[in-house]
Formats: sequence, structure tokens, C-alpha cells
Amino acid sequence: MSTLSSPDVLRRTGGRAIKSIVFDEATIAHRVGELGREVTAAYPEGELLVVGLLKGSFIFLSDLVRKIERPLEVDFLVASSYGAGKTSGGVVRLVYDPETDLTGKQILLVEDIIDSGKTLQRMLGLLGERRPRSLAICALLDKQLAPVRPAELRFVGFRAPPAFLVGYGLDHAENYRNLPFIADLDS
Ligand code: IMP
Ligand code: MG
Repeated sequence: MSTLSSPDVLRRTGGRAIKSIVFDEATIAHRVGELGREVTAAYPEGELLVVGLLKGSFIFLSDLVRKIERPLEVDFLVASSYGAGKTSGGVVRLVYDPETDLTGKQILLVEDIIDSGKTLQRMLGLLGERRPRSLAICALLDKQLAPVRPAELRFVGFRAPPAFLVGYGLDHAENYRNLPFIADLDS
């Protein structure tokens, strides 16, 4: 496994140190396997459309769908709520909309991390309007800071500490997405 000071980590971060590994590769892989089994069991029949919220979910989604053992389709949504900073601006902008027809389908929205919950609320509103048969969320990480936990939040990988996390798809100013583990950047 990579350690924080190993050459491959420093090559990926451009030499910048990272405080600590919060979830290592093996821990993530184990939990993603469990989530895949949970999702498979939750959808015994019908059409399943897995919608990844880009960009942060791209690695999680690609690992997760390979652990879901039933037919499914994949599409993506692009929303943007953070600029180069580390705090949510509260404004969620939709940059790409799924092209697939959602009507009558079971939708599983895949999120990297839930912080304030604003991105999620916005996406739930938007996807709900398209008359899916059902709408559920699978989030890899939940900081549990959202004032309300939506009923749609059915699958959560890990409870996350209230830190700024990077790696396994999560970025800071577009960096660090390619770290194979989830790390606390600096606190
Ligand atoms: P929310 O709208 O405040 O819940 O923020 C959710 C979005 O902000 C996520 O989809 C991430 O893209 C980003 N985000 C929130 N917390 C973190 C973090 O700790 N690291 C990296 N991105 C984060
Ligand atoms: Mg981001």
C-alpha cells in the first residue's frame, strides 16, 4: 500500500505533503464491494439507471458498477458547487444533464461526498421532476452536516470526518483526484 511519503504519492501530489490517510485502498475496496451487494439486493427487478454526479464520483462509480451484479445503464450529471475554494458557495450550477429518459426507471444517483447537502437537494429536485419509478442516492462519504437527511439517501459508504478530503475522485482545485486512497489534505 502507498504511504504518505512514498515516491508514487509525492509524484501524484507534485511533492505536496498530505496530512493523513483517512480511508486506504483496501478499506475502500472492501466497502465498495459491500455497497455493490447491497445495491444488487435492493433492485431485484426492473430497469436500473446509475447516474454519476461528476466529476467527483467518477472513480467510485466505475468501481461500484462493476460490483453490481444485475443489468444497468450508466449516465452522468455535471453540477458545480465549489470553485477553487474549500467551502460550499451554496449555488449549484448544472453543466450537463443526462440524455437518457428517466421516466419509469429506478434511478440510483451516485455522489462522492455529502457536505452541506445542498448539491444533493438540488439534484433530487431536478431528477424527481422527470418521473422516475424510484430515486435513491448512494454516497461514498457523508460528513453528516446536512440539516436534513433525505429519505432517498439509502446507501452510504463511510461516515466522513469534518475535514477537507481528497483522493479517489475527490479534488481540491482539480488536484489529487488520482490518489488511490482518501486523505485529509491539511488539517
Ligand atoms: P454540498 O453541496 O455542500 O453537500 O457539497 C457537495 C459537493 O462538494 C461534493 O459533491 C464535492 O464535489 C464537494 N465537496 C464537499 N466536501 C468535500 C471535501 O471534503 N473534499 C472534496 N470535495 C468536497
Ligand atoms: Mg469538487
